[in-house]
Amino acid sequence: MAKNVVVIGTQWGDEGKGKIVDWLTDQAAGVVRFQGGHNAGHTLVVGGKKTVLHLIPSGILRESVHCFIGSGVVLSPEALLKEIDELEAAGIQVAKRLHIAPTCPLILPYHAALDQARELARGSSKIGTTGRGIGPAYEDKVARRAIRVIDLFDEEKLQQKLQENVALYNVQLQYIYQAAPLNADEIFQQLQIFRERICPMVSDVSRTLYDMNQRGEKLLFEGAQGTLLDIDHGTYPFVTSSNCVAGAAAPGAGVAPQMLNYVLGIVKAYTTRVGSGPFPTELFDEVGQGLGERGQEFGATTGRARRCGWFDAAALKRAIQINGVSGMCITKLDVMDGLEYINICVGYELNGEKIDILPFGADAVAACTPIYETLPGWQESTFGIQSYDGLPENAQAYLRRIETLCGAPVAMISTGPDREETIVLQHPYAD
Ligand code: IMP
Repeated sequence: MAKNVVVIGTQWGDEGKGKIVDWLTDQAAGVVRFQGGHNAGHTLVVGGKKTVLHLIPSGILRESVHCFIGSGVVLSPEALLKEIDELEAAGIQVAKRLHIAPTCPLILPYHAALDQARELARGSSKIGTTGRGIGPAYEDKVARRAIRVIDLFDEEKLQQKLQENVALYNVQLQYIYQAAPLNADEIFQQLQIFRERICPMVSDVSRTLYDMNQRGEKLLFEGAQGTLLDIDHGTYPFVTSSNCVAGAAAPGAGVAPQMLNYVLGIVKAYTTRVGSGPFPTELFDEVGQGLGERGQEFGATTGRARRCGWFDAAALKRAIQINGVSGMCITKLDVMDGLEYINICVGYELNGEKIDILPFGADAVAACTPIYETLPGWQESTFGIQSYDGLPENAQAYLRRIETLCGAPVAMISTGPDREETIVLQHPYAD
């Protein structure tokens, strides 16, 4: 039986999952997205050339790899076609290698319109969403009124569902948010083009993944966002609208949990967050500013500057436990080069008590005061180092401390954006 790997973010997203997924896919036959939508932004650098993906799995840059969009993903037709066109213009063949589940709910213009109108109305208490319509699209799915890929193939039903949904959304847009209404016929026309183009890509993803697994072909499940943005376990309500944890790969791809053999938790060597919400170890000084500049911490999807802070081992501990992380991949270690000292958050003070793990929900997290342990930094450059022994002693000590505090082994270390700038201690696909 093949050994399949799930790659997930352990913090607030932007841990550098795209590079690692791309790196691992030299071993994989298939890469699967199982949640989220085009709110994700996965940046890949191959031979110095940068590619940013939002919806299409990061395996697409390898010619032999098949890419799958599972039913847990909310699919924007417009974003998908744009991404396919951009990749194909760059010489990457997509159409024959991309497989889309017929059960994916679509993100349509009214979802984005409502997402943006709500954020505007919330003012200073906004969530800081990507404005892509992710939340409203998942709401439709749970309310059992979503228009799914499969609905594109029944024109009459599609037209009827569109009329009903647009009517419902227009009431909210016009009367609650004083925003412009949308036209169902226009959306219907746009969907005709989409249907023609994606028709050959729609297939039984769940069955294909089962068959590949039976044949011993290795699969990679690519998470988007991060555990602390998970709808159930994150800093609710400042979260995204899907489950981003490893277990979500099973329903989101349509596979059995036994097919998820190894969970690789991607862990940035410090912490970042985009959008609003509590962030106990956030830095407001020149150290935080330096991390942001050296780490080029700007969102790949929205271009927003990311908030930066010290490594939070107590938050990581929560992520390690919920995801069942088999091994951690520490990314962007080189961004920590040159710091005189490094703080690690080992727990919090909450209502006069000391706790060693992140509590649930935004209010409790906002009330936490971090407890820090201080380690010496290192002055040498770690950029591009490819062996563990080549790392400065203090960097090794930092990694060992992270392992002890979080309760999972370091399997990989990324020391730069390119494929080669990687240290492997335990290959996730090794027996
Ligand atoms: P939404 O997913 O657009 O609804 O946004 C909800 C929250 O998740 C906001 O704080 C976003 O900034 C955050 N978010 C969504 N996708 C990503 C991502 O790929 N990386 C980091 N943060 C994200």
